[in-house]
Amino acid sequence: MAMKKNHTEEDVYILAIESSCDETAASVVKNGREVLSNVISSQIALHTVYGGVVPEIASRKHIEKINQVIETALSEANVTLKDIDAIGVTYGPGLVGALLVGVAEAKAIAYAAKKPLVGVHHIEGHISANFIEHPELEPPFLCLIVSGGHTHLVIVKDYGEFEILGRTRDDAAGEAFDKVARAVGLGYPGGPKIDKAAKEGNPDAISFPRAKVEGNVYDFSFSGLKSAVLNHINHGKMMGEEINVPDLAASFQKAVVDVLVSHTMAAAKEYGIKKIAIAGGVASNSALREGMALACKKTGADFYYPSPIYCTDNAAMIAVAAYYEYINGARADWDLNAVPNLKLGER
Ligand code: KG4
Ligand code: ZN
Repeated sequence: MAMKKNHTEEDVYILAIESSCDETAASVVKNGREVLSNVISSQIALHTVYGGVVPEIASRKHIEKINQVIETALSEANVTLKDIDAIGVTYGPGLVGALLVGVAEAKAIAYAAKKPLVGVHHIEGHISANFIEHPELEPPFLCLIVSGGHTHLVIVKDYGEFEILGRTRDDAAGEAFDKVARAVGLGYPGGPKIDKAAKEGNPDAISFPRAKVEGNVYDFSFSGLKSAVLNHINHGKMMGEEINVPDLAASFQKAVVDVLVSHTMAAAKEYGIKKIAIAGGVASNSALREGMALACKKTGADFYYPSPIYCTDNAAMIAVAAYYEYINGARADWDLNAVPNLKLGER
């Protein structure tokens, strides 16, 4: 296939693979910011039947889909493997069997095509999603990462350099959305369903607790809120009262958003940061976007958020993170392995 005419020697093309949970994804990104292709094969429909991700099914589906997803990513970008400068891959955190599929595939391609291999931390990927549509965004900035598996508040000091201010002590924000949605019969994944139902509800209808965590003021806890919601539902059942799902969704969502926004704004104030970004699946939540936008406007901070397609798992964000790791000299060895509980900032 013909190479893109505008490919110069200095251009850097990254092919990245993401398979840490239930999306099989591959993407080609030019110079760390320009997405040439972003292919996502979602398994959500398969896992919906079980009310959550079944790890064994996820691994098997990744194996079935990954070659096709990569081929499509290359052809949609109008490039071949020859044009690729490095292969990036998520190696953690995530489901070990799911991660292994992407890591093994990336190693095989990199070895066969004689390309450098770059291992990417999944959360660094989520953060990097913000660089795609905001060419002006450069570190340092504050980033709130809220997904199905993670809730982190970090200072992005430089590309690939993070200071973690707070994290969840129990459930991740997205997990709380998923559990509450399941409890009121909205199905999986719960975040988008709660978001939609909440639009018809009154966020002040039910007063749910805003969790305070002892010790670190920037840590989060959502298990108390989740229990309060379940208690409310059980109490209603016992009294024979019908649950008002939109009111419950709106009130629960407000409780989550209040805590996320207040922690983020308090950190921005303490550290004197005027650039604030959000990332991860829950970053597409409409109430969180509105709440953050309003708070940033009040304090004169710039607010950044990715389009929904770059909030949930995708490989474009992994390619962006891989690009910055690559130009900083990071190279993975052939013994790169999946690390299910990889910590942010660890190599
Ligand atoms: O980032 P992601 O795709 O996967 C992880 O790395 O965990 O995030 C998925 C999570 C799910 O828990 C899903 O319910 C949540 O993001 N989510 C949302 C919304 N869209 C996705 N939560 C709240 N509101 C949304 N609109
Ligand atoms: Zn994710």
